[in-house]
Amino acid sequence: MKKLIVSLLASAMVLSMAACGNTPASNDDSQGSASGDANQESASGNADGSSNFTTVVEGKLTMATNATFPPYEYVEGGNITGIDAEIAAAIADKLGLELQIDDMQFTAITESIRNGKADIGLAGMTITPDRQEEVDFTVSYTTGIQVIIVTEDSSITSVDDLLADGANHKVGVQLNTTGDMFTTGDIEDAEKGEVIRYDKGADAVQALKTGKVDCVVIDNEPAKAFVAENEGLKILETEYVIEDYAAAMSKDNPELYEAVNTALQELIADGTIQGIIDKYIKAE
Ligand code: ARG
Repeated sequence: MKKLIVSLLASAMVLSMAACGNTPASNDDSQGSASGDANQESASGNADGSSNFTTVVEGKLTMATNATFPPYEYVEGGNITGIDAEIAAAIADKLGLELQIDDMQFTAITESIRNGKADIGLAGMTITPDRQEEVDFTVSYTTGIQVIIVTEDSSITSVDDLLADGANHKVGVQLNTTGDMFTTGDIEDAEKGEVIRYDKGADAVQALKTGKVDCVVIDNEPAKAFVAENEGLKILETEYVIEDYAAAMSKDNPELYEAVNTALQELIADGTIQGIIDKYIKAE
């Protein structure tokens, strides 16, 4: 009889937690209570249909990024800031989670999601069919454009100059980005020039300044930031590829995907995302 009362009490607790509309992962009250873990288990699949998810670290939204990509993510005063960092903070806030940002090589982001080390990859990341085999993407929150940075006196004046037969230019890119993928296909594999890959976009830009490459293919907003910081460079007016940016998430955690994707959609609908973007990207 005693046992029955205890278990009734336990399930009443779970129900009342669920009724708060808070997820176990986000429920601060549950922290420090000995039954925290048990609640997490038994509360999954709420009858009231409220979202329910687990995160890599309980109570936290762990974001993987590569903070070399202004204005989306970059280091300022020792902190990672930028559009993606603020978007992640807004999502975490909605889900009652604390945001934790892990900086890593761009290549490592999808890996860390697949290996269960991060909940969300936000890195100005373009939705591509190859990546979609590895991770699930949320709705897109903005677009990016692959552009070409050259020195002011460059003989390269358009995308066509790069892709022409016998062009034979050295093209700098950030390793494993879409700039790398597209130029590898269109230029290197087509034997129209050479692609040189750098860990950071800024390193490719330095290589351009020192004449090691003839141009850099990179996303338009970081391109603007790099050109503003470095004299003697310009962005060609012709655009190479237009892309959609989204957050990458694990295919194995549909509950968290649902919660994050819904939060992001709400933040798009109520203008929060546009507000964040406008803070960093001023209209021309
Ligand atoms: N949009 C490009 C891609 O998805 C470049 C992203 C690079 N992002 C970064 N944080 N370094 O491949």
